[in-house]
Parts: sequence; C-alpha cells; structure tokens
Amino acid sequence: MTSQRDLKIAVFIMVIFLITGIICYASFTPPVPENPVRIMFQTKAGKVLFTHSVHVGDYTEECLDCHHNIEDDETYNCSDCHEETGDEDLPSRSDAFHTNCRGCHEDLDAGPVECNSCHSL
Ligand code: HEC
Ligand code: HEC
Ligand code: HEC
Ligand code: HEC
Repeated sequence: MTSQRDLKIAVFIMVIFLITGIICYASFTPPVPENPVRIMFQTKAGKVLFTHSVHVGDYTEECLDCHHNIEDDETYNCSDCHEETGDEDLPSRSDAFHTNCRGCHEDLDAGPVECNSCHSL
C-alpha cells in the first residue's frame, strides 16, 4: 500500500528531476550556425528578409563582399561596428546596409532596389 507520505516523496523527486532537466537544457544552448540561412531585420520602415543562401553560392562565393572586415576582425555582425548613428569615417548601420545591399543590386541589375520591395514585411 502506498501511503500519502510515499506519494508526496515520489512527487517531490519527480519535481527535482524536472528542474534538473530544465537547467541542463538551458545551459547547453545550441552553437551559432556557421552560416545562418535567413536573417530578419526588424526596422522602423518595415521588416527586411535577407536570405543568405540566395546570396552565397549562386553568383558569389565571396563572404568578403559583405563581411568586408572579417579578415581583421572576427565578427560577422555588421552592427558590432556600424551603430545607430555614424560619421564620415564609419557609416551608420542603415547607411552601411543601404550602400551594401541596394548598391550591389543596382550594380548587378538584380535584386530589389525599391524601398518596399526590401521592406516588404
Ligand atoms: C550579400 C551579403 C552577404 C554575403 C555574401 C555573406 N553574408 Fe553573412 N551576413 C550578411 C548579413 C547582412 C548578416 C547579418 C549581420 C547583422 O545582423 O549585423 C550576415 C550574418 C552572418 C553570420 C551571423 C552573424 C551572427 O552573429 O548572427 C555569419 C556566421 C555569416 N554571415 C557568415 C557568412 C559566410 C561564411 C559567408 C560566405 C560563405 C557569408 N556570410 C556571406 C551578409 C552576407
Ligand atoms: C569590424 C568592424 C566592421 C564590421 C563588422 C563591418 N564593418 Fe562596414 N565598415 C567598417 C569601417 C571601419 C568602415 C569605414 C572604412 C572602410 O570603408 O573600410 C566601414 C565601411 C562600410 C561601408 C562603406 C564603404 C564605402 O566604400 O563607402 C559599407 C557599405 C559597409 N561598411 C557595410 C558593412 C556591412 C554590410 C557589414 C556586415 C555584413 C559591415 N560593414 C561590417 C567597419 C566594419
Ligand atoms: C554582392 C551583391 C549583393 C549584395 C551585397 C546584396 N545582394 Fe541581395 N541580391 C543580389 C542578387 C544578384 C540578387 C538576385 C538573386 C537571384 O535572383 O537569384 C539578390 C536578391 C535579393 C533579394 C530577393 C531574393 C530573395 O532573397 O527573396 C532580396 C530580398 C535581397 N537580395 C536582399 C538583400 C539585402 C537585405 C542585402 C543586404 C543585407 C543584400 N541583398 C545584399 C546581390 C546582392
Ligand atoms: C536592398 C534592400 C533595401 C532597400 C532597397 C531599402 N532598404 Fe531600408 N534597410 C534595409 C536594411 C537591411 C536595413 C537595416 C536594418 C537594420 O538596421 O537592422 C534598412 C534600414 C532602414 C531604415 C532604418 C530603420 C531603423 O529602424 O533604424 C530606414 C528608415 C529605411 N531602411 C528606409 C528605407 C527607404 C525609405 C528606402 C527606399 C528609398 C529603403 N529603406 C530601401 C534594406 C533596404
């Protein structure tokens, strides 16, 4: 016969296992993918969806076309350097993106150049 007390102990042990499980799960966050497939930029002007795979492979293998500083610095994140406001030496985040993204689309005559074809979501 299981007593009320045994039942309480059993429930207590289960709760401990559950908490341990949650802690273990939370402390092993998956590694950052080497080459994220899709990136969604949240902006005031509307979200922009950038698909890495469209931009790497098909027509250019050059990571450096966009990650222009990756040889000197280890970061792939444009906003680690390009901040909200820029200056003559370092363009702001949105200037950097507009020059890079739209600039290349204009040069190659491919990819969206209209505001709302990028800020489409
Ligand atoms: C057409 C431009 C472009 C090309 C080409 C490109 N990337 Fe990216 N990549 C980006 C942009 C834009 C981001 C987002 C950066 C941000 O959020 O500040 C990004 C993000 C990344 C990130 C994630 C950074 C993070 O912390 O989330 C990695 C890793 C990365 N790229 C690797 C690569 C590699 C490797 C290549 C070459 C095989 C490559 N990229 C080619 C534009 C490009
Ligand atoms: C480690 C710092 C760093 C990172 C990361 C970085 N940039 Fe830059 N970027 C700079 C600096 C410094 C300049 C100004 C000097 C120069 O042109 O190299 C610059 C200049 C630029 C320019 C202007 C170039 C010109 O000829 O007018 C563009 C466009 C640009 N960055 C886009 C990007 C994009 C897009 C990303 C991310 C995919 C990125 N940058 C990541 C530091 C960085
Ligand atoms: C080095 C040149 C280059 C740069 C830099 C570049 N693109 Fe593109 N992009 C292209 C080309 C070429 C296409 C057309 C590809 C096709 O149609 O197969 C394209 C297509 C696209 C498309 C439409 C296809 C899709 O993914 O749905 C979007 C959206 C886009 N680019 C967004 C961006 C954004 C945002 C950036 C900057 C973070 C950027 N691009 C930077 C060359 C570039
Ligand atoms: C080739 C794609 C593309 C085109 C075309 C484009 N944008 Fe953007 N825009 C971006 C990206 C990428 C960002 C940077 C998102 C970020 O900072 O995270 C951005 C950022 C912005 C921001 C800054 C928003 C903020 O939250 O700080 C504004 C405003 C903006 N764009 C307006 C425009 C206008 C107006 C046009 C047309 C004249 C335009 N964009 C055309 C891709 C594009």
